[in-house]
Amino acid sequence: MTGGILAGKVALVTGAGSGIGRATCRLLARDGAKVIAADRNLESAKETAQELGAERSAALQVDVSSATSVQAAVAEALLKFKQAPSIVVNSAGITRDGYLLKMPERDFDEVYSVNLKGTYLVTQYFAKAMIEQQLQGGSIVNLSSIVARMNNMGQANYAATKAGVISFTEVAANEFGKFGIRVNCILPGYIDTPMVAVLPEAITQQVVQRCPVGRLGKPEEIAEVIAFLASHKAAYVNGAAIEVTGGLK
Ligand code: NAI
Repeated sequence: MTGGILAGKVALVTGAGSGIGRATCRLLARDGAKVIAADRNLESAKETAQELGAERSAALQVDVSSATSVQAAVAEALLKFKQAPSIVVNSAGITRDGYLLKMPERDFDEVYSVNLKGTYLVTQYFAKAMIEQQLQGGSIVNLSSIVARMNNMGQANYAATKAGVISFTEVAANEFGKFGIRVNCILPGYIDTPMVAVLPEAITQQVVQRCPVGRLGKPEEIAEVIAFLASHKAAYVNGAAIEVTGGLK
């Protein structure tokens, strides 16, 4: 595709091998961006990129929790389409649910390392590349969660990281405004992806009953909002935390 609102832009999406990340790659490519699908699981990232075609997409392996890996990803991303991505979507994320009194330190550390530290590392290193290349119209979109604003038992680690992503986004937006880089985050409700598929059926049914629209969300319904935030249509949206939950609170 040569036209589209994101034509001429390069986007990098983490967690691109599954769920919301994969749907985001599809919609950013639909809107004309060249898309680098990045994931810890290279095979799944390759599947995403192959679906979009070699002219429009490339795959890259990254572990967002490792500074070395993220630095290498920046160098690799620059080579893919000969320019730094001006759109970055932090969709890599994990859960390790469990009640607090029994939560192993390892489960807290892993969730923190991917969800919050990973968002920090990818944002920092890719923003540096955008600034060095003096790219215009940068947009970073982080995946928080409505869980940041709920008191879900068994998700102390996950909820804390997703609340952290909101504050992180607000500060980054404030610091990067002068470079023309906007930073926003989305708080999805319960979306039909592999992350939610592992929940017990009874929990999923409870969520659906509490949700005003009476169903889980689709990954594309989050990706549409990400595509909007990535584009110049959202030029005045900065530091925002947008709930996309079907009305679930
Ligand atoms: P998913 O489990 O379908 O996909 C997550 C992807 O992240 C996988 O491809 C996985 O390989 C990748 N990943 C995990 N650790 C990584 C690492 N260290 N480095 C690079 N990639 C890594 O998850 P889903 O549902 O697509 O979620 C995407 C984001 O949206 C996550 O941050 C999640 O917390 C958030 N979210 C999801 C909701 C949902 O209901 N599915 C609701 C609210 C937020």
